[in-house]
Amino acid sequence: MYPHHNRGKSFFNIYQCSELALSRPLRPAHCSPAIISDVPARGKFITFEGLDGSGKSTQIEKLARSLRAHGLSVSVTREPGGTATGEKIREVLLHSATAGLSPLTEMALMFASRAQHIHEVILPALAEGRIVLCDRFTDSTEAYQGGGRKLGIKPVLQLHEILCGNLQPDLTVLLDNEVAFSVERARRRNRGRKNSHSAKDENRFEQENRAFFGRVRHAYLAIAEREPQRVQVVNARGTPGETHAIIMELMRKKLKI
Ligand code: TYD
Repeated sequence: MYPHHNRGKSFFNIYQCSELALSRPLRPAHCSPAIISDVPARGKFITFEGLDGSGKSTQIEKLARSLRAHGLSVSVTREPGGTATGEKIREVLLHSATAGLSPLTEMALMFASRAQHIHEVILPALAEGRIVLCDRFTDSTEAYQGGGRKLGIKPVLQLHEILCGNLQPDLTVLLDNEVAFSVERARRRNRGRKNSHSAKDENRFEQENRAFFGRVRHAYLAIAEREPQRVQVVNARGTPGETHAIIMELMRKKLKI
């Protein structure tokens, strides 16, 4: 489960104005330095990316457990979803009965879920100094809609700037594995879910073909090449324990956690 904060207080001003919240800040003319200095220290925003079945959820769970054992405050969340509204959007996006969705509509829904998620969950948690572990973020849109659906990088980055204030993760862990291995694992997992009454149908993307996932992986690796400081490619072919050890080392090295 991915708990989400549901606070009445609006953090929109922090989101718009904080240099701490935005690594490449959009600073509107009305945003005075006084407001910026009122903003509390930012937590850490860590995103996990990779193909379906790359083992993100297992790694996020392990990392959350380790960080909490060190006494750190951790929020775990995901996209699409992470808020009540986002979870409804998720159902539309992932249910295999959703037919005929255009690539642009798909991208718009991913960003609608994300904008709400940033507003309602991510920025409030960062403002409280928490470590936010997020299962997928805008790199997923660049890889799946930009690469997989061939919409290109430009509209994704433009929408990210407009709708997400260009919020950048402090660190992105890209779990990399061969397409055949990851997708087969995701399909196996979903076949298992299908036989369980309580599980939701989240199969729409797994029905895509090998070429689609090849483009997704290619787009992910291109992001890592473009932003080597932020995006760390982690070989996901090892055991969950081995991959976790690599990720913990990254936390120590990159974030001094
Ligand atoms: P997820 O639940 O992370 O799937 P998995 O556990 O199989 O990795 O993500 C759901 C699907 O949504 C996944 O197939 C990728 C897709 N997706 C996009 O296409 N674009 C996006 O921006 C996001 C966030 C997800």
